Amino acid sequence: MRIIVCKNYEDMSRAAAKLVASQITLKPDCVLGFATGSTPIGLYKELCAMYGRGEIDFSAVTSFNLDEYYPIRKSNPESYDYFMKDNLFSKVNIPSENIHIPDGETEVPEIECLNYEKVIESCGGIDLQILGIGVNGHIGFNEPDINLSTKTHVTELSQSTIDANSRFFDSEDEVPRKAITMGVSTILKSKKIVLLASGKNKHAVIKELLDEKVNTNVPATLLNVHRDVTIICDEEAYYGDDI
Ligand code: GLP
Repeated sequence: MRIIVCKNYEDMSRAAAKLVASQITLKPDCVLGFATGSTPIGLYKELCAMYGRGEIDFSAVTSFNLDEYYPIRKSNPESYDYFMKDNLFSKVNIPSENIHIPDGETEVPEIECLNYEKVIESCGGIDLQILGIGVNGHIGFNEPDINLSTKTHVTELSQSTIDANSRFFDSEDEVPRKAITMGVSTILKSKKIVLLASGKNKHAVIKELLDEKVNTNVPATLLNVHRDVTIICDEEAYYGDDI
């Protein structure tokens, strides 16, 4: 596991954008895995700016998002579908038919999960997966548990995640209680993984991740078994109060 410690959020976002841009330069028809949450917003802003300057071309890129609330309307500004259009897809030239996000509107989520997994495989797997991390160590919506599901599945959100994500909704009651998420193997099958973390509230979990142990109660620690993970974090996430 490599770690790049950046001065602040802006530097972290620029460093991540450079890695994504390099991936697209090396393989223009690459498959990218995207994450949501507040952390990657700066990365998407940088990618849009690079695209605007003619530095990257998304015309052959395929994307898969990690997760989506369930159930949720795509028109809900808090859906990850809306988030991705707003922050990236409406601003770059990625073809809409190449974009994949779990469908929060489906009436048959189990079928959606099976298909999602199949489509990822039929595209040759993910070349570069971007991840954020929950304060409880979740990746995607793989919440702390004794057993973790390996493939794309429907999951119940933990109370800690409902609390953390309620800041985006009008009230806690409006946070959907379930989600569709890639499973831990879906994520670990990605050829490269880049995990972003910013802010003091991520310090404890980053420390645990760097402890080189695997613990399903901190799902991100499973990344320790992967051969190509880069953590890009800011000084607050890395040093916490020792800054
Ligand atoms: C959500 C997403 C995760 C994300 C996490 C952290 O729950 N499902 O993919 O990593 O939040 O969010 P933030 O970046 O806002 O701290």
